[in-house]
Amino acid sequence: MRMYDIIKKKQSGEELSTEEIDFFIRGVTDGDIPDYQISALLMAIWFRGMTTRETCDLTFAVRDSGEKLDFSAIDGIRVDKHSTGGVGDKTSLVVAPIVASYGVKVAKMSGRGLGHTGGTVDKLEAIDGFRTTLSEEEFIAQVNRIGLAIVGQSRQFAPADKKLYALRDVTATVDSMPLIAASIMGKKLAADDDCIVLDVKTGSGSFMKSVKESRELARLMVDIGKSAGKKMVALITNMDRPLGHAIGNSLEVAEAVETLKGHGPEDLTSVCITLAGRMLSLAGKGTPAECEKMAERAISDGSALKKLMETVSAQGGDARLIAEPANFRKAQYAYAVKSRAEGYIAKVDTEAYGIASLLLGAGRNTAEDKIDHSAGVILRKKTGEFVKKGEEIATLYAGDPALFGAAEERLLSATVIGREKPADEPLIYDVVE
Ligand code: URA
Repeated sequence: MRMYDIIKKKQSGEELSTEEIDFFIRGVTDGDIPDYQISALLMAIWFRGMTTRETCDLTFAVRDSGEKLDFSAIDGIRVDKHSTGGVGDKTSLVVAPIVASYGVKVAKMSGRGLGHTGGTVDKLEAIDGFRTTLSEEEFIAQVNRIGLAIVGQSRQFAPADKKLYALRDVTATVDSMPLIAASIMGKKLAADDDCIVLDVKTGSGSFMKSVKESRELARLMVDIGKSAGKKMVALITNMDRPLGHAIGNSLEVAEAVETLKGHGPEDLTSVCITLAGRMLSLAGKGTPAECEKMAERAISDGSALKKLMETVSAQGGDARLIAEPANFRKAQYAYAVKSRAEGYIAKVDTEAYGIASLLLGAGRNTAEDKIDHSAGVILRKKTGEFVKKGEEIATLYAGDPALFGAAEERLLSATVIGREKPADEPLIYDVVE
């Protein structure tokens, strides 16, 4: 088999066979195919797409490219949740403890920030001492003992995706539906969960910009998961505005804790309750509506917050920061971004908000960059709210005041102010079962 022929075949819009896809992924994993040929095939896939059968084959080949986890030593039903990536998306920190507080096991492998989007592992590392690397034995023992553990993905896990993602990132081929589906589901299926709830973000802050595309991606990923024997559901949620008010690592942990205390922003709380409800329901705890009530109860009676504190302590983190997030180390400098016009915030470019936070030090430009965990943005006004000229719309936090200028420009040029109050948009567009 020759890589040249595979590239040519896809370039002509033909369907690749299972053997050709396996040959490609094996070559990517073993380092036998040069980057220029991998990139050429990625670009051909970006233009020509893939059938569902090809995408399933690609996903399974990515899953099988490295080690797989064996969770059979975990007692009880294992449920995971995965977001396709957003801005201000701290839902995992809220929903995982809610679900675990009902005895459903959450053995969570999370990612770091990608581009303008944040990652749960970076957020958890904002908690002093928190270990995001545990041995497999420690991980499984913790899940059995307290119901929840959250770690980063190990290097041996779906290594083909690591290579493919790095090349997609520099060849403008990230936003391809089959490539996204195979990347996300290849990694998810290498873990050994019984049920998976997908949070497919849609809008200006996500990889999928329209509800139609997001629905297609959700359908594709649900079908892939089902064909691998998993119970699946996908929610399509709004990312045309950041979720909550906080963007940046320790700021987001603090907001997640406030949400677990029952004082979180309405949008974040509502998405978390729906996600947690679906996770509990897939795990057999009741109908989605009954399980949403259970999720609300875990917040109001404090059991979910207690579960997060237990998890943080078990992984070496300072649980006093969870009890009192005001104790998080503060950024050295703060800066108020003031509106240059009067009117309603008609819409925002959420991706640019994520980039503004990244520019302040909360994210990475290259994989090697170090994150400033206290940097980021607190939004004082969100889409639909009225602002006066000169009124503060956001506070920026950074360790170097020289970073404020570029972030302020990004934020202001990403905020459209109009005379009309914009129509309310749904937070959750659809559920794909
Ligand atoms: N998240 C992933 O893991 N992969 C993608 O391709 C997009 C988002």
